[in-house]
Amino acid sequence: MSSELEPRGGQELPDTTGAGDPVPDPGLPVHDPRITDVDERAAKRAERQVATMFGLATLFLIAFVVVYIAVPKDATFAGVGGSNLALGASLGVALLLIGAGLVQWARRLMDNHEVVEERHSAASSPADRTAAIGALRQGAAESQIGRRKVLVRALAGALTLLGVPVIILLGDLGPLPGTALEHTIWRRGTRVVNDVTFRPLRPEDIHLGAIVNAVPASIVDLPEGRARNNALAKAAVFLVRMEEGDIHSLPSRRSWGVSGILCFSKICTHVGCVVNLWEQLTHQLLCPCHQSTFDLSNNGRVVFGPAARSLPQLPIMVDSEGFLVAQSDFPQPVGPSFWERG
Ligand code: FES
Repeated sequence: MSSELEPRGGQELPDTTGAGDPVPDPGLPVHDPRITDVDERAAKRAERQVATMFGLATLFLIAFVVVYIAVPKDATFAGVGGSNLALGASLGVALLLIGAGLVQWARRLMDNHEVVEERHSAASSPADRTAAIGALRQGAAESQIGRRKVLVRALAGALTLLGVPVIILLGDLGPLPGTALEHTIWRRGTRVVNDVTFRPLRPEDIHLGAIVNAVPASIVDLPEGRARNNALAKAAVFLVRMEEGDIHSLPSRRSWGVSGILCFSKICTHVGCVVNLWEQLTHQLLCPCHQSTFDLSNNGRVVFGPAARSLPQLPIMVDSEGFLVAQSDFPQPVGPSFWERG
């Protein structure tokens, strides 16, 4: 179906009469003048108010500079940093006054007549398009791209390899998730020890309703430093003891606990904060960062918040000397689960 209004090809100018519009143009409402439009004294008064705001803003900015130079950095006021307080207050008030002045200027003094800007065809005219294509062709001819095939191929090779440094630099972002996050230093038989005293824990050390922070005993074998801190950051766990009847473990996890004692990763699966707010009655553990809440009596399942997966559980058992030990490493990665999201 052809139409006179169709701008395709730039052959027809758009109809701006509105004659063919499905909805009639209602036109502009009657302009309602403001008091400052009709009363010169009101306009002057508004002008003085705006000028006063800008003048006060100037004074507060000068005060900011004076405070910065004159107030000692360690000065305190009502228990907070006096310098920071004065700097923030002076700058904040100055910005507020400038903003308020601009708003008042625009609302009360600037021209507020409604205008209509007609929409025009976005297509360039045929002459402009012909000129643009001609310029492109001329540029290609002058650069001799068509004739210098060797140069083109060499450039293509160089540009392809340009991505290699980028990929290499990505290595500085850290190890791949597969190697860094899927494994911890927990192994079968690793004793669970108190995270402060490093004393091996027995089931009787974990009281009903209690939660105890723990680490693998093998952490003390690592030399102090970055490697140890990294290992500790991933392997940190807590033990919690609940009534056995309150625990609803998956069939595959029924043997992962000892007399109502379960062991979970301390690292939130959202973005890695330490989860440590224990609600004994509901068996829920809250992450203080973004309120992800995990039900420890139900396999660490997420019951609230942004975390996308359950808190990883470490299978534990008791060794021949009566100490709590791991059955294996964590069966699933600990920490944030960004690499698992589709
Ligand atoms: S890090 Fe725990 S909820 Fe965000």
